[in-house]
This record gives sequence, structure tokens and C-alpha cells, in this order.
Amino acid sequence: MSDSLEPLIWPRNVTREADGALRVNGVAVGALAAEFGTPVFVLDEDDFRARCREFRAAFDGMDVYYAGKAFLSMAIVRMIVEEGLRLDVCTGGELATALLAGMPAEDIGFHGNNKSVAELQAALDAGVGRIIVDSHDEIARLTRLASAAGLRPKVLVRVTVGIEAHTHEYIATAHEDQKFGFSLAGGDAMRAIAGILSDGALDLVGLHSHIGSQIFEPGGFEVAAKRLVSMCARVRSEQGTVLSELNLGGGFGIAYVASDDPAPTDQLACGMRKIVEQECELAGLPLPRIAVEPGRAIVGPAMFTLYEVGTVKDVGIRTYVSVDGGMSDNIRPALYGAAYTAVLAGRTSTAPGAPTRVVGRHCESGDIVVRDIELPSDTAIGDLLAVPATGAYCRSMASNYNHQPRPPVIAVRDGAARLLVRRETFEDLLRLDED
Ligand code: LLP
Repeated sequence: MSDSLEPLIWPRNVTREADGALRVNGVAVGALAAEFGTPVFVLDEDDFRARCREFRAAFDGMDVYYAGKAFLSMAIVRMIVEEGLRLDVCTGGELATALLAGMPAEDIGFHGNNKSVAELQAALDAGVGRIIVDSHDEIARLTRLASAAGLRPKVLVRVTVGIEAHTHEYIATAHEDQKFGFSLAGGDAMRAIAGILSDGALDLVGLHSHIGSQIFEPGGFEVAAKRLVSMCARVRSEQGTVLSELNLGGGFGIAYVASDDPAPTDQLACGMRKIVEQECELAGLPLPRIAVEPGRAIVGPAMFTLYEVGTVKDVGIRTYVSVDGGMSDNIRPALYGAAYTAVLAGRTSTAPGAPTRVVGRHCESGDIVVRDIELPSDTAIGDLLAVPATGAYCRSMASNYNHQPRPPVIAVRDGAARLLVRRETFEDLLRLDED
């Protein structure tokens, strides 16, 4: 059967060599498995950095905040800084990681619908560049803390623009009936803006919208941009204030399987820029600074997971190939019904394809890695399987279900691999237990 690598799905520097094995930046997967064990998340560092640069180029003149929730580690923060990106964090943990790794606080945007007093205080202490406020309660909380500290932090108001994004319900965020932001239609956004402006304790610089995640079409972003600009026009006419920033959030979709066809980044960037320019011109508003917050589109395609096959079971209708990880390192199939693909990574095979389900080692039948796939019928114990496009929301949502230690993350560049995050040990698992 065919062993070709779909170009959009795999990190760009993954190749299949004459010996049949996959190589990433020149390093064979067998060598990676031998050195770091399996399962292991493998980052093609050159691809990751290239995607950072491509976002910067596509959104030239705009601010690109990498959304750390997709995958964050100290090393990733340093790469982000080196590539000239900013960082979106949404918890005190992400903020602490960013600061420890040397991210300039001014380049951080802080999100969250329930930031605690301690988290807001930490953001103020560090001098975080933008706090995206999400509720009246948070505005009151931040106003109190900022006044006590004698600070006037820059804030953006997160607006729910009322769009039904075409993505999974759990990751759509701009329709009315969900927890994020202030409603545009219901008037809450205007009330929040007016309150902040009249109080004066917070420095309102702009508006924010994130319509959802894994979005393939530019339409939703463009409607959001249009609505935000018209909101800016209302703020000017009703409040006499010209807002200078629009953050259009993240959500740029990626291909997980061959049939996925997301709009290219530069097309999305172009569409957003054009709408904002047009609408501002119509409204007679100066062009605001525009920001975006891609997470998945930067790290998702740059990483794959390498597993080892442990058991192969033919149940008649299909073969179940069990790997040494599963829902603890990729919850996305179970949570969102997400589709992935897989290939034999250590060798090629001339055997015919057989209907296969790739499953994990956890105690649930929903522990599925790839639901329906043809894998060579000679797939056997000890084979390496690689699952592409696992860079976003896999390691960051990994769990210790069944007391499974979480896999390491390694980066490969210039023929050399290094650890970004080491593998958990049983000792790590027990370090919180009291005797
Ligand atoms: N900005 C905000 C305010 C967000 O809430 C998110 C994602 C992003 C940016 C980045 O979105 P991205 O470009 O990565 O799509 N766990 C889910 C995704 C949840 C996304 C949450 N917010 C998944 O595995 O698909």
C-alpha cells in the first residue's frame, strides 16, 4: 500500500528515505525511539520556526500572539521570542512559564473568563502588556487591584460578536449562549466599555474577538472584524474615544487528514486587513493596530507523535492495533470526535491495506487514536507508528489517566534532537501523594 506523506499534514522536514524509515531533519525515527522511548512528541523545530515567520510575514504590520494553550514549554517561549512573536496566556501557570523563560511582559496578552485575584495581581506585578477583560466582575476586580497598586493597565474588552462558527460546539466561542466575553447584541459590551471609560482606572486600548477554533473559512473572521469596527465607531460617537487596537483572536484551522482543506494563512490575513481597512475608511476611523492569536496553526502541523505497536488483534470486521499511548496523550478524538491519520514510521510495507482502528492502552473502548484507517496487513508488534498534526492541544491537554506518565517532547533540528519536556516518571506521578 502507499506510504506517501500528505504534504499539508506532516511537518515539512519529515521525509521517507530509501530504507523506508521516516526522518525528521535528517534523524531517523528509530534513533529517536531508541534514545527517548515511545510514545514521544517530535517537534520539527525548523518547521515550527518557519510557521512563526510565515505568520509574521502574512500579518505584516500586525501583532502576532502565539496562543500558548496549544502547547507551551520554556523552550517554546524562547523560540517564540527569537522569532519575534508575542504570547497569549490564559492562566497564572502559563504566565509564570512565559515570564520564567524570559518573555517580555509587555508582549504578553492575558486571557481568561475567571482570572483569580492572585493571577491578576501577578499580571500587574509583572507589567503584562494587555489584559483582555471578560466580565463585569473581572473589571471590578482589576480596577480595585490596579488602583491599590497605583497602576493603569492596558485592557481590551472581549466582545461576543454573535457568529455561529462552523466548528465543534465545544470550541466555538462567538455565539451568544456560551461563557466568554460581553455580548454585542445584548448591549453588555457597550456597558463594559462605557464603565471602563468613565471610571478611568483601566486604560482601554481596544476590543477583542475570538470566534472559535479550527475555522477553515475566512467569512467568520471578516464578519467579526466588521462588527468590531462598527463597535469602535459607536464608541467614538457615544463616548468620544477612539480605540486603537483590534485583536481578532486565533482559530486558524489546519489539516489533520487529507480531506481537510483550510484557507491559507495569507488569504485569511489579507481578508482581515481588507475588511478592517474598508470599514475604518467608511466610518472615518484611523486604522487600528490589528492583532491575531494563532496557536494550532503554528504548532499543530509542526509535530507528530511516535508510538510503538504493542498488540494486534483481528476482530473480523477490522484489526485493532494498540499503541503505547492513547487518550492520555491525545484526548481530541474522544472529546471532539477529531480525525487523525497514521503511517508505519520505521519501514514501508508492500502488504495490502487492511481496515484498522488504532487504539490506545487505556481502560475505555473510546480510547481511539485513529478511528478508521487502512494500515498494511503485516503491521506487527514493535512497529513504529507516527500520527501527524499532534502539536496543538495534545501534549497540553494530556492527562495521567490510569497513572500513565505523560510523554516527552523533543525538538529536532540540523540532525540533532534535544528534549524540550522530559518524560514523566512514576516518581513524578507520586510526588503529590501523601503517605
Ligand atoms: N485566542 C483565544 C482567546 C482562544 O481562546 C484560543 C483558543 C486561541 C486564541 C487559539 O486558538 P487556535 O488558533 O489554537 O485555534 N482544545 C481545543 C481547542 C480549544 C481552543 C481554545 N481557545 C482543541 O483541541 O481543538
